[in-house]
Amino acid sequence: MVAKVIDGKAFAANVRGQVAGHVAKLKADKGITPGLAVVLVGEDPASKVYVKNKHASTIEVGMESFEHRLPAETSEADLLALIHRLNGDPAVHGILVQLPLPKHLDSELIINSIDPAKDVDGFHISNVGLLGTGQKSMVPCTPLGCLMMLRDHHGSLAGMNAVVVGRSNIVGKPMAQLLLGDSCTVTIAHSRTKDLAEVCKRADILVAAVGRPEMITGDMVKPGATVIDVGINRIERDGKAKLVGDVHYDSAAAVAGAITPVPGGVGPMTIACLLANTLTACCRANGLPEPKGLTA
Ligand code: GUN
Repeated sequence: MVAKVIDGKAFAANVRGQVAGHVAKLKADKGITPGLAVVLVGEDPASKVYVKNKHASTIEVGMESFEHRLPAETSEADLLALIHRLNGDPAVHGILVQLPLPKHLDSELIINSIDPAKDVDGFHISNVGLLGTGQKSMVPCTPLGCLMMLRDHHGSLAGMNAVVVGRSNIVGKPMAQLLLGDSCTVTIAHSRTKDLAEVCKRADILVAAVGRPEMITGDMVKPGATVIDVGINRIERDGKAKLVGDVHYDSAAAVAGAITPVPGGVGPMTIACLLANTLTACCRANGLPEPKGLTA
């Protein structure tokens, strides 16, 4: 079998286009412009690139982008004061504090100071609890992007065996909750799982989010399964820098029914879903119906 390649780049462009359409309509009909505030503390080079891309994408879909770049020495009190201000600002519908934060700042305290209704990352403890109990919440962007691609490929996911490899709070756990919400039978596997290959081989849907380059190989994939690769690992091969996923692409693609590549799979969906979440937060804040197909 040769797997269908799920084109996340095209899918994300389509999601951004849908968001832009909703934003244009909100502006024209209601005079409302969704606004996203992104807070970056310090000079982490990767974070600076992410924040720059988020800003450009936010502008591109017609939203307001509020960037707050703070020095690495910023005190917890000053950062909390900024978040408090953004929580109370009616022009700001979404707030994202770029992680990782400098060591002297308590990430949990900072994230939990964001108004849960504006927590477009879905990291606030209230949103984690709401998702876990199947209630309306803000959903973390990467798992939401994976869910959108899976629904698009399969239609209904009900009854499918889903295996999520990785138990992080940002991807693994919320991904499992979302799949459960769509009536999959869900297993969360991790570094201590016994006979990981056998567990993975039961999966109709296999989501790899472990952060270990090319760990999931073709012999661990059920023939015809859908493989979603969340990993982004920078490695050196033959003296050249290369980006690879958590899945060994060539061997897995020879067995799977469908697969997301790296790059160009899940990656572009994260920012697209951040914009979708900001739109959703804006609609909820204004008592308007949520955009269809852009939420969990
Ligand atoms: N750092 C890397 N990815 C993310 C993300 O999705 N959200 C936040 N807030 N920080 C990140």
